[in-house]
Amino acid sequence: MKLELENIVKKYGDKVALGGVSLTLGQGVYGLLGPNGAGKSTMMNVITGNLRPDSGTVKYDGENIRELGWKYRGILGYAPQQQGLYDSFSGRRFLAYMATLKDIPRSRQKSEIDRVLKYVNLTEAAKKPIGAYSGGMKQRILIAQAILGEPKLVVLDEPTAGLDPKERVRVREKIKEISADKIILVSTHVVSDIQSIADEIILLKSGEIADRGTVSELCRKYSSEDMERVYMKLFGEDGENDKANPV
Ligand SMILES: Nc1ncnc2c1ncn2[C@@H]1O[C@H](COP(=O)(O)OP(=O)(O)O)[C@@H](O)[C@H]1O
Ligand SMILES: [Mg+2]
Repeated sequence: MKLELENIVKKYGDKVALGGVSLTLGQGVYGLLGPNGAGKSTMMNVITGNLRPDSGTVKYDGENIRELGWKYRGILGYAPQQQGLYDSFSGRRFLAYMATLKDIPRSRQKSEIDRVLKYVNLTEAAKKPIGAYSGGMKQRILIAQAILGEPKLVVLDEPTAGLDPKERVRVREKIKEISADKIILVSTHVVSDIQSIADEIILLKSGEIADRGTVSELCRKYSSEDMERVYMKLFGEDGENDKANPV
């Protein structure tokens, strides 16, 4: 199980969103941490194949994801940053729709949907429209669809954004629980959302990887008591402004 990014460059017009990102990830939970605008969503869209980089390649187990084609859909689970696209669907209908997109055979869909609903504690709410869910429930149904079909690579873009503290803890715990046999990449601009569950933190600054390591490695390297201080040292005023507006 290995994900490799090789020198990924992505520009929007003149704006360089990713300036040559190289990265290798194995099993574990990785926190992709950086302020708004750092390039986290762009990087995730490149990893998921939704966005074609200007140059560079993404490989899963040594194969270019472009060549993996439809097979990649069975390997990948993705929860995008935006919400509200499926507000009129019930939780169950949304999951059935996603299961079909993922080519999960009809005969297996019901048991698989029941499994992921139970997993995120939404069995009771499965018949209600997603539009009536709380922020935490919406995030949990997004996580549920991301783990349909037991993907090996799970990409979650700001899964805790806009949640209250109790919901944040629940979402965090769910992410940690599923990580045993997966590569999980979680983006956030909130240090406390990731430091307790990430095996490694990847610090993204202006489209480049500023550093990566375990929380203790990074604290030592930056002579800091905690990750908040590492973040401040790396992102300074940007980080400060950003943390004042967490969403
Ligand atoms: N579709 C787009 N068109 C133009 N610029 C974009 C687009 N998407 C993102 N950007 C810019 O690219 C940079 C990285 O954005 P993004 O990947 O969304 O960062 P993050 O997820 O870390 O907040 C930002 O400066 C953002 O304004
Ligand atoms: Mg983003």
